[in-house]
Amino acid sequence: MPDSLLLLSAYLLGSIPSAVLICRALGLDDPRRTGSGNPGATNVLRTGGIQAAGLTLLADVGKGAAAVLLAFNTGTSVLLQGWVMLAAVCGHLFPFFAPTRGGKGVATTLGCSLLLAWPLALCQLALWGLMFMLGRISSLASITTAAATPLLCYLIIPALLVPFILTSLLLLLKHGNNIRRLINGHEHRL
Ligand code: G3P
Repeated sequence: MPDSLLLLSAYLLGSIPSAVLICRALGLDDPRRTGSGNPGATNVLRTGGIQAAGLTLLADVGKGAAAVLLAFNTGTSVLLQGWVMLAAVCGHLFPFFAPTRGGKGVATTLGCSLLLAWPLALCQLALWGLMFMLGRISSLASITTAAATPLLCYLIIPALLVPFILTSLLLLLKHGNNIRRLINGHEHRL
């Protein structure tokens, strides 16, 4: 498969609006219109319950992993696999059919990390879990993990440093409102 088609496929996979589709199938409110307005597992948990949130998490992790699996199957270089991750995350953040209504990319990035370098994914999970236990604020755990990921990547799989730096920067930009609310002390707890 040509590289451009692989990247486009990853972007389209990332564009699948898992949270919206799952909430619709379960007869729940559109997560983009309730709670924080984010179509992600945290907000679905907040507004739709644990079953919908679990499915959303699985689907968002799964589409990231599927994009990387596609890259594996086409025999690409490690670096190109990193660009495939970035394309899938861009699809989640800026979906094809609704570019301004995407999510924040945490679960999709984790799905990619799981296949690209599982020790890195384990570190990301452990850091997210630790930060969540300390603060009980999902966004704070996500922001800390995104900020630490380039360093973790440098230590574990330096060949993917540039794609992970760019992915982390996008995730942090998408958490702009969360960062403002954290600073003002008004962030949603969960
Ligand atoms: O992974 C998303 C999380 O970091 C923030 O979600 O709904 O609190 O904005 P939310």
